[in-house]
Amino acid sequence: MQALVLAGGEGTRLRPLTADVPKPVLPLAGRPFLGFMLDWLGRHGVDDVLLSCGFLSDAVEEALGDDWRGIRLRYVREREPLGTGGPLRLAYDEGLLDERLYMLNGDVLCDFDLTAQRERHAETGALATIALTAVEDTSSYGVVPTAPDGQVEAFLEKRPGPAPTNRVNAGCYLLEREVAERIPSGAAASMEHDVFPSLCMNGLYGFHAEGYWMDIGTPERYLEATWDLLGGRIASDLPERDGGGSLVGEGSVVEGARIGPKAVVGERCVVGAGTVVDHAVLHDGVTVGERCALERCIVARDVRIEDGARVEAGAVIGAGAVVAAGATVGAGARVEPGERVG
Ligand code: GTP
Repeated sequence: MQALVLAGGEGTRLRPLTADVPKPVLPLAGRPFLGFMLDWLGRHGVDDVLLSCGFLSDAVEEALGDDWRGIRLRYVREREPLGTGGPLRLAYDEGLLDERLYMLNGDVLCDFDLTAQRERHAETGALATIALTAVEDTSSYGVVPTAPDGQVEAFLEKRPGPAPTNRVNAGCYLLEREVAERIPSGAAASMEHDVFPSLCMNGLYGFHAEGYWMDIGTPERYLEATWDLLGGRIASDLPERDGGGSLVGEGSVVEGARIGPKAVVGERCVVGAGTVVDHAVLHDGVTVGERCALERCIVARDVRIEDGARVEAGAVIGAGAVVAAGATVGAGARVEPGERVG
């Protein structure tokens, strides 16, 4: 079974983390994010994955290579960003598509029953079947009402105000190859704005999916996904966490520091005595001095945080930045890669 995974977006909402690491391979709980997706696909019989890349494509290939635990990985590179629909056509034009395939946004952490989605797709004879997940606040998602027979009635992209249903597009589709033929060659196109609206009541079905679903595209949701993985809310084969649900990577030294609850310290980090790392994420190679306080923040690789500094909730610090002794990075602040906070 084949899957095409969209991994070419710029990930602007996750900047500065995505300045030099594309969102699909950002470390999440210490491993490239797509690793979790590939494991999930593998559990549902997927053994052939096309990774659709553009922005920082080499970094995706460097992180994942051509095989993930027995799943063959191939890269489809676009010269210009082709949006969420153009990459399907490009893979078609390159002769790579099977007759039926999954297509996924490369930023959803999920454990839906893809096998049941495939069965439903076959039963209805659909051209495309979209997984629909229930959310409390629909305003930042595409709302998808369905008819009693499961056909999609409308595709209502990101609108404020009351919605006709709380079921939204989960970014996880099962498609017949002929859907690609409806997309123009060599141009950007959108699954959400162009392809799916044209298929409403005409071969497009919804699949009401149950289970865990999180789009990791913002710092808040990236942190939530981290805590959910650490707490076992979504199954994974992460290493054993400590009593506080935290992970400390290989080669890191944290003696005398309080790590957790629910913190991630990457590989080769040093965290000084008297420092608290609470619900925070440190990528690899981070150095933190003594008596610092890091809370609910994300610190990219090779950052240096000097003695007595504070990093408050929701702050995101870009790779290689320095936070000087005694300085505070305020709640929700963004520190650019290489910047020095005095
Ligand atoms: P934001 O800039 O923060 O909105 O993130 P994004 O660029 O990733 O956009 P969005 O979250 O809407 O993208 C959904 C999925 O499509 C992600 O997995 C992206 O990697 C992917 N994607 C977005 N645009 C493109 C594109 O032009 N080409 C390819 N190949 N993938 C894309």
